[in-house]
Amino acid sequence: MSLPQVAPNPDRHAAAHDAAQRYLQAAGNLTDRSGWSLKMFTSLNLFLWHLDAFASADDPVPAFITAFDSATALLKLAGDTVCGGHFPEVPPATVDESGFENQVSGLFSDIWVSMTDDIYFDQSYDFTKQRFEKNGLDPEAFFADKTVLDAGCGSGKFSAAIARFGAKQVIGMDIGQKGLDFARGQTGKVPYGDRLDYRFGSLLDIPLDDASVDVVWSNGVIHHTLGYDQCVAEFARVLKPGGQLFLYVNGRFGLFELLLDTLRLATADVPKPLFQHFLSLLGVNSGRLYWIMDCLSAPYEWRSRAELEQLLRRHGFTDLFQMTRGVASDQIEQVTVGIPHAATKYGEAQLKYIATKA
Ligand SMILES: C[S@@+](CC[C@H](N)C(=O)[O-])C[C@H]1O[C@@H](n2cnc3c(N)ncnc32)[C@H](O)[C@@H]1O
Repeated sequence: MSLPQVAPNPDRHAAAHDAAQRYLQAAGNLTDRSGWSLKMFTSLNLFLWHLDAFASADDPVPAFITAFDSATALLKLAGDTVCGGHFPEVPPATVDESGFENQVSGLFSDIWVSMTDDIYFDQSYDFTKQRFEKNGLDPEAFFADKTVLDAGCGSGKFSAAIARFGAKQVIGMDIGQKGLDFARGQTGKVPYGDRLDYRFGSLLDIPLDDASVDVVWSNGVIHHTLGYDQCVAEFARVLKPGGQLFLYVNGRFGLFELLLDTLRLATADVPKPLFQHFLSLLGVNSGRLYWIMDCLSAPYEWRSRAELEQLLRRHGFTDLFQMTRGVASDQIEQVTVGIPHAATKYGEAQLKYIATKA
């Protein structure tokens, strides 16, 4: 099964892009703080809308425009009528580069602590096993007796899965202290817990010796940092020659990218704890809450497959292998099996690579 070549398609997406701009404009005009509730309401529902709409076989572009225009009309109506300026105005949201990493790690740390054990231990293990096997790889052979760095381990749920596959030692590293504390607390629940070692450290300057690990695993992390390239350089440095990198980042050119960037910008002035609390009071389960906050709050740097491959090669990685299969809900699986309009929806989808350090 081969992947379709996905390229930017400005004509195809232009109308969707315009609708997204109209929504952003309407959200930006709601400067009264009480507008936070409307921005959370519309953005959450647009996000949930995409889950249903993208699951359908229909062309998503007209539906995308209708959904965004409806949300825009709601925001405009509220702005023109009931929003009475009773609350202080919010200053326009800005990205504070110095606080960026703390913001991202703080965001995730707060989410981990509500994660249930079945999602933490079993789902991470089962999904990883299925993803490897569907790509013709044996996870036990890949990890057995290896020293593995889980780079940006978050809650440690994949570190735990990797130890369960038989790794000799898994160093879970992150800059989120709450996530690390939570991960340490989980180790007592499983028989392989003594092979899990959680450490504070930034991927931009990994506190490990050169050529000291057999495998670097980095799942959905480096596109949230301010140093995409630097992380890859650090992975190359700490890997032994012949060692292997598993890297997951997001590819480009789908409506999904436009959706996330738009909803994140529209809710940029909403305090993250408020948004998270809103979701948990609504009863959103811990796995989905994490996913929504990841999509709508954490900044993303989107790079194409070609750009990623070039970067990996530049840092001395060879034998690049893209894992194009996944569990049924994985966007890359849907693009690979060719469900209708999958490339319009997801573009290149998730880029999951295994590469060898020369
Ligand atoms: C989307 S989460 C992914 C967590 C985990 N890999 C997983 O798949 O469950 C991104 C993680 O990257 C971490 N992170 C962001 N910047 C980092 C950096 N410079 N160094 C280490 N970790 C970082 C965040 O704290 C967060 O835990």
